[in-house]
Amino acid sequence: MPDYDLVIRNGRIVDGTAAPGRAGDLAVRGDRIAAVGSVPGRGAREIDAQGSAVAPGFIDVHTHDDAAVVRDPRVDFKIMQGVTTDVLGNCGAGVAPASDAFRTYYRTGMGPILGESDLPWSTTAEYFAAVEAAHPACNAVAYVPHGVLRYVVMGMEKRAPTDAELRRMCDLLDEGMRAGAIGMSTGLVYVPGAYARTDELVELAKVAARYGGIYGSHIRNESGGLLEAVEEAISIGERAGCGVQLSHHKSAGVFGLTERSLPLIARARERGVDVTIDVYPYTASSSSLAAMFRLGREQAFEAAPAIIASVKYNKERYEGKYVSEIAADLGLPIGDAIRKILEEEENTPSVIMFIMDEADVRRVVADDHCMAGSDGLPSEGKPHPRLYGTMPAILQKYVRDEPLLTLEEAVRKMTSLAAAKHRIKDRGVLREGWYADIVVFDPETVADAATYQEPRQYPRGIEYVVVNGQVAAERGRQTAARAGCMLRRGQ
Ligand code: ZN
Ligand code: CU
Repeated sequence: MPDYDLVIRNGRIVDGTAAPGRAGDLAVRGDRIAAVGSVPGRGAREIDAQGSAVAPGFIDVHTHDDAAVVRDPRVDFKIMQGVTTDVLGNCGAGVAPASDAFRTYYRTGMGPILGESDLPWSTTAEYFAAVEAAHPACNAVAYVPHGVLRYVVMGMEKRAPTDAELRRMCDLLDEGMRAGAIGMSTGLVYVPGAYARTDELVELAKVAARYGGIYGSHIRNESGGLLEAVEEAISIGERAGCGVQLSHHKSAGVFGLTERSLPLIARARERGVDVTIDVYPYTASSSSLAAMFRLGREQAFEAAPAIIASVKYNKERYEGKYVSEIAADLGLPIGDAIRKILEEEENTPSVIMFIMDEADVRRVVADDHCMAGSDGLPSEGKPHPRLYGTMPAILQKYVRDEPLLTLEEAVRKMTSLAAAKHRIKDRGVLREGWYADIVVFDPETVADAATYQEPRQYPRGIEYVVVNGQVAAERGRQTAARAGCMLRRGQ
């Protein structure tokens, strides 16, 4: 009789706490880590990890896989980069709770970005049950998205909610929190979320606070108004009494503002607000073309290169092409070309925009309280490479090629720091008794292979991925295992 189900031998144990890596073995029994260090017994399966790092599975704190984990539960683009837990429901967008009106809106409003779904559930609890029934390959936790709450209760009304409407939104959020959501997210550049004033968000955040939940935000302005928008998000956490996660922190279009935003955030932490951030390691963003154009970014499209990532109809003609190329082909100014694309494609395209400066990205990545969030959009076409490559890109770029972080520190950001903030219990550290979510990778070769033109490429150097004790990927190939769980807050 073997002593363990799985033993990973002779690796460099990078345990997620930022403690110096050390040579050792790791044993798994069932879905738990049974021993770390020197393992004398035998495993039913033994993996030789000589020369490789053995780390906790990565936690992607910013995903839009809400529909994907149900529709495409293999989530190969996550598993193959070593992600074992996805945080869903970001940017105020998502798939639950759902009403008939929201189901109709979703088809053209959020569906083109999050992926198609009939939303065959009503409550957050029912959605969580649907994720469970789909048996995704990775674990998931989720925010209740404010944009969805608002649409379900008020549609596209551009005004403050009445008392009754606000109460209804609070009730729906309360229901989601009782189902195990980790908090509420907002997307304050997207409609209808953008119609909310600060007071509405404070009232809602208080509901999340009652359960120890957090407020995650795609803030109101990531460009010239970045500092004011950061202050608003912090004030919401402060007034409601909950932790704050600032999503995909960046200085977009205007460079260098992170030099001031990071100290602002650090000062809030000093006065006791639990505020942390996340980042994706690229200088290009990606979002809905309609939303970005609506933001009055016509000038942004003139000032910086942009690529059409996905469209509904004319895939050959538009996907992977620079907007400037398309405009030149059409003989139109950039703004008119975008209007034409939006009309032909019924407002569904997503776009990639090169609007960040590497110095800002590096500054954010290096911040002690910054985690990794891909913000990947699991859409058709040629999605931003961050969908496939975020975690390896951090290890490749900022640990090996242009050193900014030690391996141990990078892994801490991608694991224990993320787990603690997102109320993910007993994961994110390689510790006896904790869940066996593990990634084995080669620090010398790990690399993001996805490109803007060919984004659907699995990374290099990710050797084994284990989810809840089951081997989900081995030597660059995904297995049939789908051992992921829908995790409830703090459980
Ligand atoms: Zn966002
Ligand atoms: Cu997002």
